[in-house]
This record gives sequence, C-alpha cells and structure tokens, in this order.
Amino acid sequence: MKKMTRQEKYRYIEQALPEELELLKEKVSKSSWRQSYHIQPPTGLLNDPNGFSYYNGAYHLFYQWFPFGAEHGMKYWFHTTSKDLANWEEVGIGIKPGDVYDSHGAYSGSAVVKDHRLHLMYTGNARDASWVRHTSQCMAVMDENGSIVKIDKPVIPEIPPGYTDHFRDPKVWEVNGEYFCVIGAQRNNKTGCTVLYQSKDLIHWNFKGEVVTDLDEFGYMWECPDYFEMDGKGILLFSPQGLEPEKERYQNIYQSGYLLGKPLDMETLSFKHQPFQELDKGFDFYAQQTTKTPDGRRILVGWMGLPDLEYPTDKEGWAHCLTLPRQISIKDDKVIQRPVPELALLRKEEKNVNIKIDNETKQLEELHGKAYELFCEIKDLKAERVGIEFRANNSEKTVLSYDSVNNEIILDRSLSGQPLEKKNGYIRRCSFKAEELKIHMFVDVSSVEIFINDGEEVFTSRIFPSEDSEAIRFFSQNGSATFRALKWDY
Ligand code: FRU
Repeated sequence: MKKMTRQEKYRYIEQALPEELELLKEKVSKSSWRQSYHIQPPTGLLNDPNGFSYYNGAYHLFYQWFPFGAEHGMKYWFHTTSKDLANWEEVGIGIKPGDVYDSHGAYSGSAVVKDHRLHLMYTGNARDASWVRHTSQCMAVMDENGSIVKIDKPVIPEIPPGYTDHFRDPKVWEVNGEYFCVIGAQRNNKTGCTVLYQSKDLIHWNFKGEVVTDLDEFGYMWECPDYFEMDGKGILLFSPQGLEPEKERYQNIYQSGYLLGKPLDMETLSFKHQPFQELDKGFDFYAQQTTKTPDGRRILVGWMGLPDLEYPTDKEGWAHCLTLPRQISIKDDKVIQRPVPELALLRKEEKNVNIKIDNETKQLEELHGKAYELFCEIKDLKAERVGIEFRANNSEKTVLSYDSVNNEIILDRSLSGQPLEKKNGYIRRCSFKAEELKIHMFVDVSSVEIFINDGEEVFTSRIFPSEDSEAIRFFSQNGSATFRALKWDY
C-alpha cells in the first residue's frame, strides 16, 4: 500500500483537501470489517485509549486518532462517552494538536477530576525544523458542558536529566488531595522504565524519581504506564518494547503486562514485585489504561492492535478498535480480567445448546453469526483435545482449543480469513490446567475476545473472515466431552 509522505501525515484536520474526508468516509463505509459494538475510528487510525474516567454522570473514553488514513501521523484525542460501559456515543474531537508544544500531536494521557472539572493530562509532541522531537506534558480541562480548553503552557515542560525524548503517556491519580503521575520513559542507556511526579494542584509538578523495580534491563522503552492499588497490593501496568520471545511468552512484536507487588513506597520509590506477567495471550493487545467506577470497580480498556503492523483494513482507510471494558481483580497473585457485567445490556436473541461431542466435529445449525456473545462450559472432559471453531465456512475458521495432554490453550488464526502479518505469528499457546473449561467469547465482525475460566486468561485478536464465515462448531478428539452453550446475538 502506498504510504503517505511526512507532509501528508502531519496535517491538521482543517488542512484536509476538498472532500478528502467525505471520500474517505465513503470508502470506510464500504468496508465489510466494520465492527458492530466496539469503539472504532470514523475514518483513519485509532490507537491507545486515553483519558478513561467517570465524570459528570458518564464514562469518558478518548482514543488516539489520526483522521486521514491507517497510518501513525498527526494524533488527536477523539472523545466517546457512555452511561453504562456497553453503549458508546461518539462526541468528536476532544484535544486538538496545533500549539507550539503539541504541534505534531496530542499524544497519550489520562484524566482526573478536580474542582468539578475533568483534567486531561497528555504528552505534547512537537518537532522542530530539523525534525528533532520536543516532548512535554500538557493539560487540558473539560467543564460540565463538555467544552475542553488547553492550559497554555506545558505543566511539565522539560525531560529530567538521564532520559531521552521518549518520555510520554502520563497516567494521573489522586490520593488524599495530592496528585501523582507515572510517565513512560527511556533512560539515556536506551533501557525502558517509568518515573513518578507529584503535585498539589495538577499545575506544578515535582519530579520524584524513577520507580525502582527489579527490571533494570527490560526492553528499550516502557509505554503507557498505569499504577493503582487493590486489596493492599500495588499494580504497575505498562507496555514494554524490545523484549525477545521466550518459549510461549512475548510472542507479539510488542508486549503489555503488569508487575504485582507491595504498594509503591512513595518516599523511596521502591516497588517490590513479582515477575512481569503479560495481560493478554492473544495477538492484538496494547497500551491499556484503567479507571475506577463510581462503585469502586477497576476497569481496563486496551487498544486492540499493535504498532508497526499492517492490517487488512488499512487499504480501506481505517484501522483498529478498542477492547471491551474488563473488570480487574486479583487472585493468587495474578490479575484476573472479566468482561464487565454491563455488556449483558447488548444481548438480543438467546439460544442454548447442550450436547455430548464424541471424537467428532459438530456444526451447530442453531448457533451461528458474526457478532455475538458465546458462553460455553465444557465438562466430563475425556478427550485429548476439545474446542470451538467459529467464524467458519468451508475453508475458513478460527479455532480455540484445549489440549488436555500438554495442558495448554491454543488460539489458531492461521485459517481465519484475510491473512495478517507473518511477523506477529498465527498461533498462540498458553499453559493451562483444568478439569473443566468455561469459554466466554465476544465475537464482533472482525475481532474476538476470549475469557477462559472466569478471566484467568484472556485472548484478544483481530480476525478478518469472509462475510459468510458464520458457522460455530464444537469438537473433541480422541474422546468425549459435554458442551453446554449459551449464545446471545449482539
Ligand atoms: C503507544 C504510543 C504512545 C504514544 C502514542 C502516540 O501506542 O506510542 O507511547 O503516546 O502511542 O500515538
């Protein structure tokens, strides 16, 4: 596909050619892979979720947006809202780049409520005439009418000594009237880390230092950090770049995961933690961000995509979507992710099936579709392998299976439809031992999110099947199992 030039990529929306955006919209509307219930860009490219918050009676979720095509260029914040975490409305542009300090993009950031206003803290990306990057942390303030005004100067104008200009993605939170933020950084020796700032008013920030972890050399950049506490523990989420694959781990070209430990010591910045764990075992998941609901739940949303990969919709003028919101909890020193219960609001027609499968693959005529929720319990497991084929036709299928000999869950998208880039692979495996399985899948027109055994593992993936790939099949190999399934159209 022909790539845009730098001039084409770094334009503001006002600089669109006559009818450029209308034509692009028309092209996008012809795509057969537009999602039906996920947040996706109207045109162009979506990446990280930003500013996820609850304010003034609604959830606010912004995302990184490049309007003109499926490339990373001038980034805006696009604003969406929801009353219920299930149905989302597009509001439009939230933060516009274009001031001296964000002339080349309003990069990722987060939100916190102060004095009845939503404060959006983000990274200003600027380039000078020699294309040298200047990074600062900026603030914009949204009032109860939804109008967003930028504070005219960056609140953190400089990068502290010791770090390169890869210094971005502030995640801000409040504790007893004081504010903190973590920022993703790269040390001068080209290793990734995260740093902490503190403020009394969100305008004046003190650099506290680097969060001290055991991971001195863990990739070359940590993007999109997030820190919160739960059940007396501290959790640092981030997206490290530059990890090499190790057996079944780190298979994606970039990773996203967490450190779970004792609460961060705000004085020494020491963070005592367990080994890094990936959040998602699928192919397309990155740059997640969390917020807290009014009833105290911690909710996570991620970008269902990865940087530096081409996707089949690129040529249609759009790319990517966000994941569904997931509710976080901790069990046995592991982060558990469940789909938020509010998603049940999207359920339409319900079907159910109870069936014994014995060394066969059975297509369920009553179950099929392109956009649905499927909950399937597999019991009396006496087979070597069991699983579900979905978005299937005569030649295509996406397969989720459990291998009870090697104790692993396998997601195979090698026959899912339009091929994806080889460098991100076609099969994901994850060690897992269970006598019974609960597979909870959310299938949309071009994606699937699969929650295993109440959120112990999650597999998130884009898939690009043909429109007639609607079949659902259950199978068992060398033995039998019973399948009890409930399906709701969405
Ligand atoms: C992560 C990221 C962030 C940056 C943003 C720019 O995907 O590279 O670090 O702020 O995207 O769009």
